[in-house]
Amino acid sequence: MAGRALLLAGAPGTGKTALALGLSHELGPKVPFCPMVGSEVYSSEVKKTEVLMENFRRAIGIRIKENKVVYEGVVTELTPEESDDPMGGFGKAVKHVVIGLKTTKGTKQLKLDASIYDSLQKEKVTVGDVIYIEANSGAVKRVGRSDEFLTEHDLEAEEYVPMPKGDVHKKKEVVQDVTLHDLDVANSRPQGGQDVMSMMNSIMKPKKTEITEKLRTEINKVVNKYIDQGVAELVPGVLFIDEIHMLDIECFTYLNRALESTLAPIVIFATNRGNCVIRGTDVVSPHGIPVDLLDRLMIVRTLPYTKNHIIDILAIRARTEGIDLGEGSLEHLGDIGAKSSLRYAVQLLTPANILATTNGRKQVLLEDVKEIDSLFLDAQSSAELLKKHSSSYVMQ
Ligand SMILES: Nc1ncnc2c1ncn2[C@@H]1O[C@H](COP(=O)(O)OP(=O)(O)OP(=O)(O)O)[C@@H](O)[C@H]1O
Ligand SMILES: [Mg+2]
Repeated sequence: MAGRALLLAGAPGTGKTALALGLSHELGPKVPFCPMVGSEVYSSEVKKTEVLMENFRRAIGIRIKENKVVYEGVVTELTPEESDDPMGGFGKAVKHVVIGLKTTKGTKQLKLDASIYDSLQKEKVTVGDVIYIEANSGAVKRVGRSDEFLTEHDLEAEEYVPMPKGDVHKKKEVVQDVTLHDLDVANSRPQGGQDVMSMMNSIMKPKKTEITEKLRTEINKVVNKYIDQGVAELVPGVLFIDEIHMLDIECFTYLNRALESTLAPIVIFATNRGNCVIRGTDVVSPHGIPVDLLDRLMIVRTLPYTKNHIIDILAIRARTEGIDLGEGSLEHLGDIGAKSSLRYAVQLLTPANILATTNGRKQVLLEDVKEIDSLFLDAQSSAELLKKHSSSYVMQ
């Protein structure tokens, strides 16, 4: 499927954006999912095509497996050894840190550099955690809390892991998921070692740096080499561009080309437009998309929800928001949704609940929904009112 593109086309409120959200949950954290809105490409600093390219590369993942020499175990002691500040101040500086690591096979005490103490603190490592330290880069990774401490607290969002087996000092296969964009950013400011992991570790400082086409070509070459060698594995993700009609003709031309590249994700577009003008031209085209791009897309039509679907969605929505809907009220909200729109019906939930609470009730009854519906207008009735009373509004 990689390199293929899908277009979700349908009236407003038919669940296109909701579908994308659901998709990203379904894919989980291992598969890259990059959502964007068409209008995001317009920036005064960055080229439109650059924004698109960046998002394309955010949606392509690489899983890298490397055999690393590490020290791994449960932390048994963590003692920073201090000395007087060499700058002559009153404070103390950490000179080195002594750390004890225990596995099922034995214990080892390591005396490490102060910089590793910083990384230990950054990862919030305490005694009883399972960690590993990479031997050549000194990078510290906290795996979780040792399951010896499982009964420590009853309420904790901790991940408990068993005590590592084997020696403390050993070779370990380290798996890391990154995106092509992460690699671009890391390499636009080279620092640290040349091996893959140190490239990974320098990722993400929020600063815009120029990523040139040349750098990207180089990265693609390296990535392709790693894939051939079996060190890395390509994980094509999903790029979702909402409101695709906001793009202009230059972006569309660029998309044609980007979709054909070998390293391309699955691309999903969404739009609620029918026939309209393609931005940057005066040509009218279906969905505001040029026909040559449309030809490359598989088009999925999204249809308005029926009353029963609306009732189902409202029930889920009410449950997540902790709103107790009485039997008749849900039915009536379904009717309102079918008549106006799902969005309008969803928006009535909160005010109806507030009204019920004000009246001293926990459950939202039919009368609350009716009263709230009379207080607010949906788009359609508002437009009708405007038409009826057009003479009393200011006209230009
Ligand atoms: N299957 C669903 N489950 C739960 N909520 C949904 C579902 N489908 C739609 N909704 C809700 O309905 C509302 C409208 O849906 P959504 O925003 O996806 O419409 P859309 O097709 O993107 O519309 P537009 O073209 O105007 O952007 C949202 O509040 C969304 O949360
Ligand atoms: Mg939408």
